[in-house]
Amino acid sequence: MTVPVPKAELHLHIEGTLEPEAALACAARNGVELPFASADALRAAYSFTDLASFLDLYYALMAVLRTERDFTELADAYLARAAAQGVRHAEIFFDPQAHLARGVALATVLDGLGAALAAAPARHGITTRLIMCFLRDRPAAEALEVFEAARPWFGTLVTGVGLDSAEVGNPPAPFAEVFGRARDAGLRRVAHAGEEGPPAYVREVLDVLGAERVDHGIRSLEDPELVARLVRERVPLTVCPLSNVRLRCVPDLAAHPLPRMLDAGLLVTVNSDDPSYFGGYIEDNYAALGLDDETSRLLAANSFRAAFLPEDERAAHL
Ligand code: ADE
Ligand code: ZN
Repeated sequence: MTVPVPKAELHLHIEGTLEPEAALACAARNGVELPFASADALRAAYSFTDLASFLDLYYALMAVLRTERDFTELADAYLARAAAQGVRHAEIFFDPQAHLARGVALATVLDGLGAALAAAPARHGITTRLIMCFLRDRPAAEALEVFEAARPWFGTLVTGVGLDSAEVGNPPAPFAEVFGRARDAGLRRVAHAGEEGPPAYVREVLDVLGAERVDHGIRSLEDPELVARLVRERVPLTVCPLSNVRLRCVPDLAAHPLPRMLDAGLLVTVNSDDPSYFGGYIEDNYAALGLDDETSRLLAANSFRAAFLPEDERAAHL
């Protein structure tokens, strides 16, 4: 087997790494009933028609995650798989509101994830960052509440904020206040845009939220002026090919816009999004595109260029 190219993963929802076997084990341990008798039955449900159909299962399955141990084991299992696929640095998203809504305390989530992330350099050879995402289909006032509740972890564990969940019909602008507070608190800022939603949302996350990276951004290609701006300003796009196909944002891998994005001069990276649900981790996404070695190396270099790393650490990877 060829050795995977060393790379950073910049678009990864930790809840989207919950493998069917782990979900069932967690459910049994916590006495949570699931409407799936086996891992295969669960896997068979991983068939989606769009982002919304995926999010329904993604949020429902989170019911099994209840204790600090659950979150530690979830993150540790991801880090082990990521290390095997060449990941040396991972910037990991989590969805606090999805856990708070189920009665799981923020401290349970953060202390659980934090234990796995603290052990990651020695255990897996991976440095990490943790990015707290707000759900754009929930009120902006709720995002402000969770932002304030997470302050004790800012700078130490939580170093960035993001915006995710159902995109169409949920424009970014209402989250300007919370993103402004994040900037003032010294946090980095990313946002999903242009996955299912229009190029106008990509402009909005840049102009109104001050996003430093755009998650997905594939629909930017519909707007040549926007592409020119993204190229000029070197705005990184965290693209997730298997996700885009599984959620039918693009018809198949042959039609995936990544080659066109590279040709346009965009700072593109390849990532896995929710690997348990979309049929592959990061190297599987690289492999799915059938890239030549030079392009793989370029994408890997881009991943470190786009990472929230201090310059000396970045340089050590390039
Ligand atoms: N949450 C988890 N995965 C997501 C995706 N691909 N788009 C938006 N929100 C998400
Ligand atoms: Zn995502």
